[in-house]
Amino acid sequence: MLRAIPLFKDLTDEDLLVINDHTVEKTVPKNTVVLTEGTVGDSLYAITAGRVKVFIGDEDGREIILKFLGPGDFFGEMSMIDSQPRSASVSAVEPSTFRVLSQNGFQECLARSPRISSLVMQALARRLREADRKISTLALMDVYGRVANTLLELAINHEGKLVVGEKLSQQDIANMVGASREMVNRILKDLSERGYITIESKTITIHDEKLPPSF
Ligand code: CMP
Repeated sequence: MLRAIPLFKDLTDEDLLVINDHTVEKTVPKNTVVLTEGTVGDSLYAITAGRVKVFIGDEDGREIILKFLGPGDFFGEMSMIDSQPRSASVSAVEPSTFRVLSQNGFQECLARSPRISSLVMQALARRLREADRKISTLALMDVYGRVANTLLELAINHEGKLVVGEKLSQQDIANMVGASREMVNRILKDLSERGYITIESKTITIHDEKLPPSF
């Protein structure tokens, strides 16, 4: 079971048995808040099923979504590394299952496998790069550009078509780009009327052959 998780896949059978004693399985229903920003944290979560969103919220219920994560991803490593409170909140957007690794287990993993340190560092570097890109789009682009950029960043090639991999509501997109849902609705409508995208039951297809160079 643990070997199916990319973070643990290079551990030996003996190591896995030891690490297994430091993990528990946790299953939560949709909309459960798994981690809360600012609280003390002492565990790392590897996602085995489902999908979560990493976000920062304010007292008025507004939020900015930093990232969606799914099976094979992990979260909660930052507080384990620097012993600071949780940097963001994480909630399940689908029923989700995790393998939860304790602080002691995390230390065991690092001692037993240099590859795990390397995987965690790679994930941190990737997240910092994405955060840098997000800061630059928030500071330098207007909302139209931010929506277009977010769709392109989330797009994957599916059977020869460029499709946004996540099933996103307009509120999700608004929370990712720091705009109102009404504004996102207007922009998606405009993109659709210009023939740049097609939206069918929350699946957005991007017609990249029609995009102008500045898109
Ligand atoms: P931690 O700070 O312990 O708790 C919140 C977790 O959210 C954090 O660890 C990371 O695992 C994750 N996280 C924080 N910021 C980002 C981000 N920009 N992209 C992806 N994951 C993040």
